[in-house]
Amino acid sequence: MSFEPRTRDHVENTIANVVEMAAHKPRTDYSPAAMHPGDELVAFARLAVDVGHPLKNSAQIGFALRADQWGRGLGAEMVGLLLRLGVEQLGVYRIWGARSPHNTASARVMTKAGMVEEGVIRGHIKLASGWRDSVVHSILAPEWEQTR
Ligand SMILES: CC(C)(COP(=O)(O)OP(=O)(O)OC[C@H]1O[C@@H](n2cnc3c(N)ncnc32)[C@H](O)[C@@H]1OP(=O)(O)O)[C@@H](O)C(=O)NCCC(=O)NCCS
Repeated sequence: MSFEPRTRDHVENTIANVVEMAAHKPRTDYSPAAMHPGDELVAFARLAVDVGHPLKNSAQIGFALRADQWGRGLGAEMVGLLLRLGVEQLGVYRIWGARSPHNTASARVMTKAGMVEEGVIRGHIKLASGWRDSVVHSILAPEWEQTR
């Protein structure tokens, strides 16, 4: 992940921010929860529109599935739904995600959803273990239309 394990206080703050940002107009931040029938939370995802540059129309995605749900195809489904939300509902042209160079599951899930591996951002994130590179994957709206 791109962050260290969080405290309960930190997570409560994050959820409060998510709820607050959901009311922004225009809305630029989407953090859907994925539920199993029976209201059981199994995953958390995020699509954040990159704001602040009039010539850009892009958004970054993030996603995490509860560990006991891995390997059943839910990750790929979740990324597909995020791309659909971004391109089809919000009209975003470019959607990208950044992963750890060691995260082969994330690489596979994004590739399976049609995202292309773009390259490496060197020294992207500072973790307790030191500076970490990120591998960037992306998809453009016309590519999503074809993939779909
Ligand atoms: C990344 C993550 C969402 C993948 O979800 P998942 O539901 O387990 O993945 P899926 O079952 O949809 O698998 C999709 C593909 O990835 C492959 N895959 C899944 N886990 C893998 C692993 N650990 N190593 C290699 N390939 C893996 C599957 O075999 C499948 O490929 P296939 O269809 O060719 O067989 C999940 O591992 C996770 O939540 N990890 C922790 C959070 C995280 O890393 N988020 C991404 C941050 S960038």
